This record gives sequence, structure tokens and C-alpha cells, in this order.
Amino acid sequence: MGYGQESLVEAAAAQMRTLAYYNAFFQTTTPTATALAERIAGLAPPQFRHVFFTGSGSEANDTVIRLVRRYWDLVGQPDRKVIISRLNAYHGSTLAAASLGGMTSMHAQGGLPIPGIVHIDQPHYWAHRHGAASGLSREDFGLVAARWLEEKIAEVGADRVAAFIGEPVQGAGGVVVPPSTYWPEIQRICDRHGILLLSDEVVCGFGRTGRWWGCETFGTKPDLMTFAKGVTSGYVPLGGVMVGERIARVLIEQGGEFEHGYTYSGHPVACAVGLANLDLIERLGLVDRVREDTGPYLAQRVAELMDHPMVGEVQSCGLMAAVQLCRDVALKEAFAPDIAIGMVCRKHCFDNGLVMRAVGDRMIVAPPLIVTRAQVDEMMGLVLQALDRTLAEARAAGWI
Ligand SMILES: Cc1ncc(COP(=O)(O)O)c(C=O)c1O
Repeated sequence: MGYGQESLVEAAAAQMRTLAYYNAFFQTTTPTATALAERIAGLAPPQFRHVFFTGSGSEANDTVIRLVRRYWDLVGQPDRKVIISRLNAYHGSTLAAASLGGMTSMHAQGGLPIPGIVHIDQPHYWAHRHGAASGLSREDFGLVAARWLEEKIAEVGADRVAAFIGEPVQGAGGVVVPPSTYWPEIQRICDRHGILLLSDEVVCGFGRTGRWWGCETFGTKPDLMTFAKGVTSGYVPLGGVMVGERIARVLIEQGGEFEHGYTYSGHPVACAVGLANLDLIERLGLVDRVREDTGPYLAQRVAELMDHPMVGEVQSCGLMAAVQLCRDVALKEAFAPDIAIGMVCRKHCFDNGLVMRAVGDRMIVAPPLIVTRAQVDEMMGLVLQALDRTLAEARAAGWI
């Protein structure tokens, strides 16, 4: 929602004056947490009627591991412990969430992943351009990438696999928008083997992709969804897990107390800000606007960058976009890694008043949902300027 939204500030102040804190466990809660739970359940796909609040996305993904294991124990299949994730996924920074993630640089520090989490390769068309995706259309590559899941299930043994987790669009991994064939095939594979599907909506949730949830944009029916960030527009920390009825029913009817919870689960101040934030998104009709207006406009403006001599691929989905830098567009050849061309470009962005992130050689943006077409134009003008300055520097240094 961008900076300076007074209604969010007011909601926090009013809640602090009324009830600054009470916990949400030992069969207690606060009216504000209850109201937000009900509100989010109303926005979520129909299989979701229960919410477990956390303080962050990482805590939400930790919670997911406990929920999944508890579920399989309760239904009498305790051997189903293994969760399959993807390389270059990001699911957070705690021991469990970093293990779920597929960042090799994180795994290299401290002996990750923890046991019971395995990874398959990602549906990254550009990254696989000289390998698995070579000679394939995006759609055909999407099917190849989804079937890596089936191969991994066969390797682990279907009766040992608990769940598959993925971000609908990998955010921190570089705004990796999967081919349209990918998620439907993943859903079919999970269904075929009775495996739970977990959608990490920490980035994609609350309108980012042009629908309330990324899984709606990509046509999956997950059993669990994690969220954070957009629920409060980052004004205060809040995260959570949407628990699908398949799991909620078993946990509630057979599980008794779920021995899990954080002091700040369902913090009333955070929940009050969440309610005000959702009010604003709905009042301004922002999810429809992203889907029908600003998202397609960003896509169109980003596509124009394909004419630039240093841009090998562009990707966008709703209000998130990626620009892949490369040394030789015709050969799809990357810059030497030690040049760190993404960071060179980022410096030109920052010097120029544009906050743009570099993920390796990929520049990514995710403007607030309130962004206007005029602001997209302003942003894209700065992106182009940064690309031109990076190109000039690369030529002067002999990198091209
Ligand atoms: C997809 C995804 N999942 C989980 C997380 C972790 O959330 P947090 O940083 O709130 O713990 C992030 C954070 O960037 C994320 O992008």
C-alpha cells in the first residue's frame, strides 16, 4: 500500500489504546485476531476456513512442517515425513525455513538442509536455456520441470513423501514466473500420489499476482498456504498459515491440542493493521486493478526492454517483474560471474533514485499495489537509464 497510509497508522494506535496485547493460545484469543482470521478466510479459496497466525513468513513455514507431520501421524501414515522443495526457492531464514528453501549459499552455512527435506530443480526457463530447456518451448519445458517432481517421488518412495512446497512465482530467487503448464502438472502429480501441496504465498498473496492468491493465478488447490508481507503491507510484522479443511478437520477432530504457538501469534496490533490494510485494498479495488490495468501495463512496458542490447529475457506477473542481463543476447551468453553485472546495474539504479534489487544477473522490481500507470512510466524510464549506464560501463571496461 506504499508509505504513509494514515488508516493503518490509526488502526495500530487505536488497538494499542484498547488492548495492546494478549496471546492466542491455551484456548484464548482477541476479538481483533478473530476478526482478521474470519476476514482472510473469506478472501481465501473455499478449502480454507482456518488460520494459524505467526509473526513472520519464516515462522509460518516452520509451522507448516509441524502441521504436515502431525497430519500424517494422525491419519496413520507416520512414514510420510519427507517434504520436497525446489532449488533457488526462498521460504525464510530459520533452520527449518532455510532448509525448505533451496538457496545453496544458505545451505552451505551450518549444515543445511535438516533431514527430511529434499530438492528438485526449478522451472527457470532462462537458467536452463543451455540445458533442459534447450530447444523446448516454455510450455514444453514447464512439463519437463514438473516431472522432476514425479522422478523425485519415485526415488524417495511415494509412501515416504509428505508434501511438495513452492512459491507460485519464486520471488527472492529472481521473479521466476513458471511456464503456464507447470503448476497444473504439479497438482496432477501431487493428487496422483496423495501428496499435500503447500503454496508459499508470502510474496504472491494479497493481490501481488492480480488475484488474491498466487495459487488462483496458476490454478492449483493447495492444502496449506503461508502468508506474511502483504497482509499488513509491511507496516508491522505478521504472518500465518491458511489450513485447508483436509488437514484442519483431522487436527481438530483427532488431534486435541496442537502444541505449537508463538507469543506474538495473532498479535492484536498487527491484526488491527491487517484489517485496515485489507479494507484499503478492497476499497480501492486494487486486486482487480493489478489484474486488469497496472499489471498488464507493467508487462507491456517491461517487454519493451527486450530491444535493449543487454537484456536476454523479461518476465512479469501482476506487479512483479524481472529483467535478465546478459553479455550476448543472440548467444544468450552470461557475463563472467566475477563482474557481478547485477550489482553494477543496481548501483546505477540507486544512484539514479530507483530502488531495484539484483538477484545474480537478474534485476527485479515489485512496486506497491497502489502504483499508477504514470509511476510505472517513471520507474521504467529510470530502469532504462540504469541499463544504458550499465551498458556504457560494460563497454568501457571491455566486458562486452
Ligand atoms: C516466499 C517467501 N517465503 C518466506 C519468506 C520469509 O518471510 P520472513 O522474512 O517474514 O520470515 C520470504 C521472505 O522474503 C519469502 O519471500
